[in-house]
Amino acid sequence: LALLHPRRDWAGRQVLITAGGTEAPIDPVRVLTNHSSGKMGIALAEVLRDRGAQVTLIHARVTAPLPQGVELVEARTVEAMDTAVQGRFAQADAVFMAAAVSDYQMKEVSPEKIKKSGDTLTLELVKAKDILKSLGEEKTHQILVGFAAESQELEKNAQEKLVRKNLDFIAANNISGGQVFGQEENHVVLYGPHGLRVDLGQRSKKETAEMLVDEVTKHFQK
Ligand code: CTP
Ligand code: CA
Repeated sequence: LALLHPRRDWAGRQVLITAGGTEAPIDPVRVLTNHSSGKMGIALAEVLRDRGAQVTLIHARVTAPLPQGVELVEARTVEAMDTAVQGRFAQADAVFMAAAVSDYQMKEVSPEKIKKSGDTLTLELVKAKDILKSLGEEKTHQILVGFAAESQELEKNAQEKLVRKNLDFIAANNISGGQVFGQEENHVVLYGPHGLRVDLGQRSKKETAEMLVDEVTKHFQK
């Protein structure tokens, strides 16, 4: 029944979603990146599109097919993603920050290809901008949803990020078994306002996205 009569409960809402793994260039031919496939952000984009939202998907490197019927913006580095998000934030009603954003980047990107020389090579990295934390400081009316991949102390770390980044919700993923990245399924525990804690269970990323959106929708109706 849900498939035949999709709820258009997000009609008229502008949604920003980020997906995939950002890249930090080392030199003209090399990058530092991570194993994010982009599937969670893409699933959210499809769910919100089908529920009537105007979706902009800002994506870094992804290995899964990108969706149709949404605005696609490629942003491969932290800086590019930050610019793309910032430029659209004022008009957004909700932001789902599903991208795996680099924590560190090269202090200086080498303008030339680094030549092989000694037996060891040390790269100096500096902290990258925390895009979501800045949004938390600037938000006026926007609902902010963060994602946390935790390999230990899931609850404590996720709750701490919810507060530190001034988020409305955080979707915590347990990655301790090495699962999640690139997989079709995941197991999210969602934390939100007033001590909300909902275990979404082990299920497909599409179903996880649908349930996550259900919880966020309740928040809008308050
Ligand atoms: N995030 C971001 N900008 C960064 C790093 C993370 O916007 N430079 C966002 C992610 O997209 C995610 C949330 O912050 O929605 C939490 O990311 P996570 O990596 O779990 O948390 P960190 O604050 O980076 O802490 P740590 O990696 O040490 O757990
Ligand atoms: Ca991080």
